[in-house]
Amino acid sequence: MPVRGPIFLPGDKSIAHRALILSALSKGKTFINNFPVNKDCLVTLEAFRKLSIKINISKDKVGVLGKGLYGLTKSESPIFVGDSGTTLRLLSGVLAGQNFKARLTAGKYLSKRPMLRVTKPLRMMGAKINSRLKTQDSRREEYAPIIISGGNLKGISYKIPVASAQVKSAILLAGLFAQGVTKVSEPISTRDHTERMLKLFKANITVNKKEIKIKGGKELVSPGKVYIPGDISSASFFIVAAAIVPGSLVTIKNISLNPSRLGVVNVLRRMKANILAVSCQLSAVSCSEPMGDLVVKESVLKGTTVKKEEIPSLIDELPILMVAACFAQGKTVFKGVGELRVKETDRIKSMTENLTKMGAKINVSGENIIVFGVGGLHGARVKSFGDHRTAMSMLIAGLVAKGKVSVDNVSCIDKSFPDFIRTLNALRKQ
Ligand code: S3P
Repeated sequence: MPVRGPIFLPGDKSIAHRALILSALSKGKTFINNFPVNKDCLVTLEAFRKLSIKINISKDKVGVLGKGLYGLTKSESPIFVGDSGTTLRLLSGVLAGQNFKARLTAGKYLSKRPMLRVTKPLRMMGAKINSRLKTQDSRREEYAPIIISGGNLKGISYKIPVASAQVKSAILLAGLFAQGVTKVSEPISTRDHTERMLKLFKANITVNKKEIKIKGGKELVSPGKVYIPGDISSASFFIVAAAIVPGSLVTIKNISLNPSRLGVVNVLRRMKANILAVSCQLSAVSCSEPMGDLVVKESVLKGTTVKKEEIPSLIDELPILMVAACFAQGKTVFKGVGELRVKETDRIKSMTENLTKMGAKINVSGENIIVFGVGGLHGARVKSFGDHRTAMSMLIAGLVAKGKVSVDNVSCIDKSFPDFIRTLNALRKQ
């Protein structure tokens, strides 16, 4: 059955976290529209309520009554961030700047994800942080729960060793509270939502390619309203579905077209997918993020090579791109994908195991994945591994597989896109 029709998607998860954080840290009301009501974003919302910020939510509309840069107050109980890595890492940056102690606890998946990449630079800025330590193969790593005693930060100049928007953002948010200038540089450019949102809220920030500077101590100014464009990561499942299911034609409306997130579109276009972007606009209230419509049609896909430098721009879309690659002619090579191992689950393992069960041919060697186009997949019982993007990717693979595909435990999809299955079914009926 083809997927056909227009769709509007919930707002971008990454942008929504930033909108909540900066609304809480600026004085007065901010209204956030097209807020994605998913587990991760609700965790950020609850965290700021615990830090004494008044927040109302009604459907996809959120009103935040911010208290300014120095308005947060101590939470008497630990702040539980579920399995939201963005909440844990970005909030660590904010809490590093506060004159009180905070304890952050995480769910079972996030408690296994590395935190040293964030705690290290925050300690260099002056925060006192305790975490759960583990040494494996003589490598020291840190994990949640973490206890932060912040305040009295000093700006640092820091070269981030891994390409991670969460690490960059944690340091920039701490930089809001630091004395002097905080400078970060990235090995490869990552999503720039924090920089855009900080500019929108009138922070003292300058961006020069991969180098960003922020001067601390300046109060933020809310724009009053923020519109969150549709989430391109959620869209990627429908983009690939439209490309691989015969007879499909899908229009995705008001979607984020931020260049730092468009890797999935660029790679699929290289694979000869029929994708048209229309009416790209920078809306006055769209949080200075580019937005537009994407039209995607059934396509004959060809293999391609994805370079390491492209990975940050499609990091969350690698699972669904691996599905697309199975249906392409020839081989698709993904280079430098090591960061995929430290997501909600080891996504190289989860996707390779699942797709192989369905007849895919995949070679993994170090940080590279080669997917050989096999023209089609067959039915199988596969697993979500508790990971939302693995679950959604496998459900899309199931649309075109010969035979039945069943995916266990799909409730994890609520992390980013609770309405995914309903949205997909609605497109299949048209
Ligand atoms: C995110 C950054 C990425 C991405 C995650 C969201 C963000 O993580 O995978 O889903 O909102 O900054 P890393 O910074 O760990 O690459």
